[in-house]
Amino acid sequence: MDFSLTEDHEMIRDAARDFAQNEIVPVAAQFDSSGEFPAETIRKAGELGFMGVEVPTEYGGAGLDPISYVLVISEISAADAAHGTIVSVNNSLFGVPLLSFGTEEQKKTFLTPVASGEINGAYALTEPQSGSDARAMRARATLSSDGTHYVINAKKSWITSGPVAKYVIVFAHTSHADGTEAGISAFIVDAEKPGFACGKTEPKLGIRASATCEIELTDYECPVENRIGDEGQGFKIAMTVLDAGRVGIAAQALGIAQAAYEAALEYSRDRKAFGEAIGSFQSIQNKIADMKMRIEASRLLVLQAAWAKAKAAETGQKNTLNASIAKLHASETAMYVTHQAVQIHGGMGYSKELPLERYFRDAKITEIYEGTSEIQRMVIGRHETGLR
Ligand code: CAA
Repeated sequence: MDFSLTEDHEMIRDAARDFAQNEIVPVAAQFDSSGEFPAETIRKAGELGFMGVEVPTEYGGAGLDPISYVLVISEISAADAAHGTIVSVNNSLFGVPLLSFGTEEQKKTFLTPVASGEINGAYALTEPQSGSDARAMRARATLSSDGTHYVINAKKSWITSGPVAKYVIVFAHTSHADGTEAGISAFIVDAEKPGFACGKTEPKLGIRASATCEIELTDYECPVENRIGDEGQGFKIAMTVLDAGRVGIAAQALGIAQAAYEAALEYSRDRKAFGEAIGSFQSIQNKIADMKMRIEASRLLVLQAAWAKAKAAETGQKNTLNASIAKLHASETAMYVTHQAVQIHGGMGYSKELPLERYFRDAKITEIYEGTSEIQRMVIGRHETGLR
């Protein structure tokens, strides 16, 4: 067993780090403050292949592996978690359903422009009354009597990149004109077609530069060829996508924690109190030790989950357990570490002059989206006990 990265992976990590530190860090505070979508840096991320890391080059991506993906997400999120979120939506939430379940035509038409970063995609599972209990969605897609299209009526909420997405993957209960129920299915919806509307945008605690809104479909006509997979396969697709996406969110949480840790470490060496660097006090060293230990555990779990994701792609098995463990641990670590990093900085940690308070606000979402910590514990608990 070898825990070191390969030379190729080191190169990819360094390329992502250079881009993130040189292009994103200088604008991160400004976009956090304005809440504007950082279109220019996202365009540059697309040029570097970061909007479709695992997507084959023939479909506009970089053709790399899951380890490369977590390295990229982690470096970008260390610079700014909002950028990490936007990058992860195109890669995972939009890319995976098409890559794993899409037809050749769907990949060419819809995946290619999103994976190359030319346009943005989004994923619409959650509804105002159904978040964790995703199957309780009310969205409805009815097949037309001539079988050419579905009429979709839906209200979806918390749609990351919703305000800027050209294509959105929408999940809905499906029925036929005669009333037969056909289960949940997944559809590619074009935001520029009639019947699609963006609702209110969410004012958020963190990841403020990522755009989030409600979307509403009213008698939206979706051609049958824009259904992903079979009728009734939608819930399985949604869950498979989350198994991939959660690995990315774990990597995002790792990146946020790493950035907060490095800032706290530097501050603990520089800041003097009672005539000494505060890092020489046991109370600060204990915090540094606990932060470091948890971050290193997150790193191993994130890399293991990425490895399991690659294995799952080869064998057709699931990477559900590893994804949930990595997301749960890394997101709780990000909360712990950013909290301690603010504390080590004292008043400066609370000030907007430094990024510590932003790291702290951004970390929180990693415990909520793509499945809360409670859902990750449910997934792990069900897996281990075999009980429901
Ligand atoms: N992969 C493939 N199939 C899966 C699966 C997985 N990981 N998990 C479940 N399934 C299948 C099951 O095998 C089962 O199939 P059959 O009916 O054929 O037996 C079916 O799905 C139903 O499974 P469950 O009975 O386990 O489903 P459940 O209703 O109890 O829910 C859950 C399971 C894990 C709680 C799931 O609802 C869940 O993950 N909820 C959280 C949803 C979530 O993460 N939402 C975040 C939205 S995305 C987001 O955050 C947006 C954003 O923009 C960032």
